[in-house]
Amino acid sequence: MAELLVARETAPGEHRVAATPETVGKLTGLGLEVLVQRGAGLGARHDDAVYEAAGARLVDPGAPVTAALVARVSPPTPEEVAALPAGTVLLSFVAPHRNLGTVRALAAGEVTTLAMELVPRISRAQAIDALSSQANLVGYRAVIVASYHLDKYFPLFMTAAGTIRPATVVVLGAGVAGLQALATARRLGAVVKVSDVRAAAKEEVASLGATFLDVPEAGDLTGEGGYAKEVGEDFLTRQRAMLTEAVGAAHAVITTAQIPGRPAPILLTREMVEAMPAGAVVVDVAAADGGNCELTDVAGPVEHHGVLVLPGHDLASQMPAEASALYARNILAFCGLLVTEGEVTLDLDDEVVAGSLLTHAGEVVHDRTAELLAGGDA
Ligand code: NAI
Repeated sequence: MAELLVARETAPGEHRVAATPETVGKLTGLGLEVLVQRGAGLGARHDDAVYEAAGARLVDPGAPVTAALVARVSPPTPEEVAALPAGTVLLSFVAPHRNLGTVRALAAGEVTTLAMELVPRISRAQAIDALSSQANLVGYRAVIVASYHLDKYFPLFMTAAGTIRPATVVVLGAGVAGLQALATARRLGAVVKVSDVRAAAKEEVASLGATFLDVPEAGDLTGEGGYAKEVGEDFLTRQRAMLTEAVGAAHAVITTAQIPGRPAPILLTREMVEAMPAGAVVVDVAAADGGNCELTDVAGPVEHHGVLVLPGHDLASQMPAEASALYARNILAFCGLLVTEGEVTLDLDDEVVAGSLLTHAGEVVHDRTAELLAGGDA
């Protein structure tokens, strides 16, 4: 019977956990023995005793790792990787382009890493798609945070004392987080305008009741895997010029534009922020990859010309119980692919496994990460 270790997260601000008492029962049903590092669930409001009652065995976070499978949420540090025996299968977000030291340690330690952000976005892998499960929460939370900080109503109010105009919200990037932000802002009654560079986004945005902001002569910039292509400075200059008017009238801007494994495009410059109404709020979901706003600081809020710019990299972790419930089900679904009769059987020909594979047998097998490592820009 193979063991699965559920790690206690150590990254600052990380309150999520990779298995919940609910999924422990189901993981056990796959024939796994589930080990949970003491305190792993506290951030998501699950006590050790509840894990034990669900059938897990509690272990000390410092105890040697014996499990064949290790599940975590945030990328491990190189030191944490060093504690994993060769041959361990790790399921975790890794953000490889930002954590090349960790990737090197994973390869050197002969850990088999299935990176949650590399899971292919195909129908068969939907239950494993942690980017989507977390981005949904992020898009929702970004709007709630913006509405909390905005000293203005979102909806239209017609009262005996006069009419209050609704807030205008601009959403940059109409992927999973952006569409959820759009829907949430609409539910709160705001007028919503959205920009994206993928042609498919236009129809999705319109069907959710928002206005699409078209970049002139953009064409369709959908790239590999349905993600956006990286665009040049020329394009971004045109896009920023197009966005200037809408952003200048926005009370809140939610920025979610990302290119997997690359720096986030700057869509909101200092000058554009200065043109926004005083009291406006920017929530930058792309903060961890440098942000879509020139003023974003991942370390905390920045106030500039009366506009509040908030980093939104940890919004999923701000809703730890539900974020963990969904992430834990993604991990459970992945284990369903990897475990047969209680033993780990890694099928490297499986499209989902192969697509998610970051390191294996001492090698970095993900091309883009291998390229970054060869470039030496750790
Ligand atoms: P993401 O987090 O990589 O990027 C967010 C959004 O930013 C994307 O819509 C992207 O087009 C946009 N973006 C990039 N550069 C931009 C720019 N300069 N200006 C404006 N927007 C820009 O993307 P996410 O949310 O992970 O989704 C990517 C794709 O995957 C989408 O097409 C989505 O529909 C698809 N998807 C497919 C699934 C499936 O079939 N199972 C599940 C989830 C997503």
